[in-house]
Amino acid sequence: MRRKFLAGNLKMNGCSSSICELVDAITTRSKNFHDCDVVILPPYLYLNEVSLLLEKSHLSLGSQNICQFNNGSYTGEISAEMISELGCDYVLIGHSERRNFFLETNNHILEKVKRALENNLTPILCVGETMEERAAGQTENIIMDQISSTHDYIGISQQEKIIIAYEPIWAIGSGKAASENDVQDVLSSIRRNLETIGDSVTLIYGGSVNPENAQAIFEQADVDGGLIGGASLDEKKFVELARLLQEV
Ligand code: PGA
Repeated sequence: MRRKFLAGNLKMNGCSSSICELVDAITTRSKNFHDCDVVILPPYLYLNEVSLLLEKSHLSLGSQNICQFNNGSYTGEISAEMISELGCDYVLIGHSERRNFFLETNNHILEKVKRALENNLTPILCVGETMEERAAGQTENIIMDQISSTHDYIGISQQEKIIIAYEPIWAIGSGKAASENDVQDVLSSIRRNLETIGDSVTLIYGGSVNPENAQAIFEQADVDGGLIGGASLDEKKFVELARLLQEV
């Protein structure tokens, strides 16, 4: 079912005390925002501490990644089952930083989505094009290819559970968000292409969202929320984004 959804991807930032302070401030300041789902995605190492802080709040916990395998001899990896045990309800899968720096392919991403669903985690599947692909008019093809390489292998009822985050690679961390019209064009084409489930899937936008540009983006008909990087490290900005989303 479509719902208002905001996730803060803290990436590899902060330390135990700064993250706890941040999360504590976000939970206190956003306690009256009940109309949108707000999720915090801290680094793995702090999931447990953040989970305890979120226990009595309406915010949810998610992980920035999982391993594509169930368990076993995979040195340095963390499984879907492990993060689920720590209280996560969500997991980010296929972020462009994982695709680029850690060479994740659509095949890895499909396996991760399967592990997430098997462990009752909601995958937040990130898709997006490069500036060159956009300039060449390939945006829709690239994005639908990334989505269908997962959707084609899982049942339709499972497809509905996946939140899709459109994150143009050129907009991430660049300070240059996509225009609200470009965001709307891409998200409406995703809904159209998803056919029967299009109207029930939660679609969000990520890439340099901040309190100045968010309202125009959140107001678009096919936008259900945002995936926030930099602005999630500032509690005032992140809470303001939650407020704007709750009010559109
Ligand atoms: P940004 O990051 O908001 O800093 O652009 C978004 C993301 O990487 O998900």
